[in-house]
Formats: sequence, C-alpha cells, structure tokens
Amino acid sequence: SNPSLLILPGDGIGPEVMAEVRRIIDWFGDKRGLSFDVSEDLVGGAAYDAHGTPLHDDTMAKAQEVDAVLLGAVGGPKYDVLDFSVKPERGLLRLRKEMDLYSNLRPAQCFDALADFSSLKKDVVAGLDIMIVRELTSGVYFGEPRGIFEEGNERVGINTQRYTESEIDRVARSAFELAMRRGKKLCSMEKANVMESGILWREVVTEVAKDYPEVELSHMYADAGAMQLCRWPKQFDVIVTDNLFGDLLSDAAAMLTGSLGMLPSASLGAPMANGRPKALYEPVHGSAPDIAGQGKANPIACVLSFAMALRYSFDQGAEAERLEKAIEAVLASGVRTADLLGEEGVTPVTTSGMGDEILKALDAS
Ligand code: NAI
Ligand code: MG
Repeated sequence: SNPSLLILPGDGIGPEVMAEVRRIIDWFGDKRGLSFDVSEDLVGGAAYDAHGTPLHDDTMAKAQEVDAVLLGAVGGPKYDVLDFSVKPERGLLRLRKEMDLYSNLRPAQCFDALADFSSLKKDVVAGLDIMIVRELTSGVYFGEPRGIFEEGNERVGINTQRYTESEIDRVARSAFELAMRRGKKLCSMEKANVMESGILWREVVTEVAKDYPEVELSHMYADAGAMQLCRWPKQFDVIVTDNLFGDLLSDAAAMLTGSLGMLPSASLGAPMANGRPKALYEPVHGSAPDIAGQGKANPIACVLSFAMALRYSFDQGAEAERLEKAIEAVLASGVRTADLLGEEGVTPVTTSGMGDEILKALDAS
C-alpha cells in the first residue's frame, strides 16, 4: 500500500501554502508514480473553531498512525484572547509531545540566487548547506524544579537544565545517522566548561561516536559555535546541540540564508514498527496574519518541508533533490514572492504563481 501522509494546514497562510504542496504531491503521484494516501485534518485555531480544542483526540490518534505528518502553521490574533490550555500552539505542542519528537532538524541552506538576501557577505553564504539538530523534548524548558519562589525578602525565578544519558544518546544517534547520509562531519555544541549537563553531553556523544567510526566528530562550546556560525558557517555539516542552545543557534543560522518563507524543518522521534521515524514536517514560519488571504505567502518553506519528508520518511532522496533543484531553477529564473522582492529585474508572483512555476520546473526535470 502507499505510504500515508496526514496534512494539517492550520491557520492563516498555512492553508494557502499547503494548497501548493498538495499540487506538488499530486505531481509526484501522476508523473513519478510516487503516490501517498493523503488525509487532511484540522489543527490550531481551525480545530478550536470546529471542536473547541486545538487538536481533536481523533486527529492525535491519526497522527500516531501515519508515516508522516505535514503541518502548515497555527495561530492568529483572533485566538490571542483564548485561555492558554486551548491556544492554537497547544495543538502543535501536543503533537510534538505525544509523538515524542526529540530530534528537531533545521537546515540552513542558501540558494545561490538568494545569496544577496543574506545579512552576511555573499561568499560566506553562497552554496551554504548545513543542518542543526536540536534536542526538542528535554533540557531547561522542561527540567524540574521550575517556578518563581519566595526566598528571603525577594522572589527567585528557577529553571533547571536536566539531561539524562538516554535523552542525550537518542538525539546524538539521530545526528550521527544524519551525518552518515551527508558530509560525515558532526560538531556537538554545549558548555562543558561551566555546565554539568554539558560535561555529560560531551561524554555521551563521544561514546555514541564509537558506533559511527566514519563520522568525524568535533566538540565546540556553544558560544564559540555561535561566533563560528557567523564567521564561516561552511566549516560545519551537521551540528547537534541541546534544546536551549539549539533554539538560539538555529534561529541565528536561519538568518544566514534570508527569508523565513524559505525555511523548512523536521521533528523526528523513535523508529516505528516499519522502521520509519515518527515524523512531523513543518515550515519554520508562523501563520503570518499580516499577509494572510492576499496571495503573498511564499510556499517554498512548506514545499521544502515536504522535500524533507521525501528524504527522511520515505527514502526518496533523489526525488527530494529533484524538488529542491526545481525550486533552485525557479529562483534562478528570477521569479519571486513578495517576501523576496527588492532586487532589480525579478518577476513578482503570487503564492499560486510560485506553485505554477515549481510545477513547470518539475515537468522540465
Ligand atoms: P510569522 O512567522 O507568522 O511572521 C513573521 C513575519 O514573516 C511576518 O511579517 C510574515 O508576513 C512574514 N512571513 C512568515 N512566513 C512567510 C511566508 N511563508 N511568506 C512570506 N512572508 C512570510 O511570525 P509572527 O508574526 O511572530 O506570528 C504570527 C502568528 O503565528 C502568531 O499567532 C504566532 O503564535 C504563530 N506562530 C506559529 C508558528 C507555528 O505554527 N509553528 C511559529 C511561529 C509563530
Ligand atoms: Mg525560536
């Protein structure tokens, strides 16, 4: 039977960019014989409007069964007044938590045609292709004790950075597996100079490395890593780091490459019975209420998220590359959505216009 894909378009520009992805998924079925059993459901504000909850139990159950979930974006001003327990982002958090998606893959990739868009020098970013693996389910965002407590005559805010060996081991393994499929180079970042969790992190990663003798492992303090990312990012291939450092480093790395409208992500968990990892793919951007409903959204981040699904869930690396090359060709031809305008001689297109161009480039591939 065909591999299964659950599509959750969500709110704001989520449904707009996902409509273009649906056309591309259909193209792979028609032209490449690569068909998926696609089902679509609600998440976020859209689910709240229909069911009074940002993620219905039936949708959660479906997400646990399918081979991969592809999500658009959630949230919007309309829902800002809601109680925290039913806010749109709670739908996304529930998916990540119940699927136990501990490994967050954030590529920082620079298409040559967009090298001028970076805040860095062109030669620093042109051709950049690195991957940051962020631990997503533990660390200081979750560790206990946490809270604001009275201490003497003032209050103290407490969070706890906490990592078990098994938590470090599993995310390290996912990073080594990734490095094996890429440039076989992995840099682990922590602050073992000042943090106990960092010392343990370095020890466990070094131990896991014994199972991957082909991968060249290095260690770097995360603050030095931030500097190196801005100075010469091409020295890296895969970076693995904890939840907090990964949050900061992946946002910084994202801006090496230009627009939010270009950035995909994957969140992976443990392998399922069929060997595929539990997986959720989504663009990094949010629901962009400021441009929703105007045909201005760039669908590329969401399309690239589907390309990641092809590669990491469905073992279709060559087809993922076909899709990425098609996007590269479209950008090289000067076609741009509104977020990427500004250069001379480019052709502005709408969200669906960009979809048309990608499909044409796929036809030509
Ligand atoms: P945002 O990512 O939605 O928008 C930030 C800026 O980037 C806006 O000016 C927007 O127009 C632009 N932008 C984002 N994606 C774009 C695209 N594909 N094409 C062209 N321009 C694009 O972040 P913001 O404004 O902070 O949040 C808006 C809503 O989205 C909030 O409700 C927030 O909670 C939610 N959000 C949801 C996320 C998710 O679903 N994973 C992630 C981040 C925010
Ligand atoms: Mg962040």
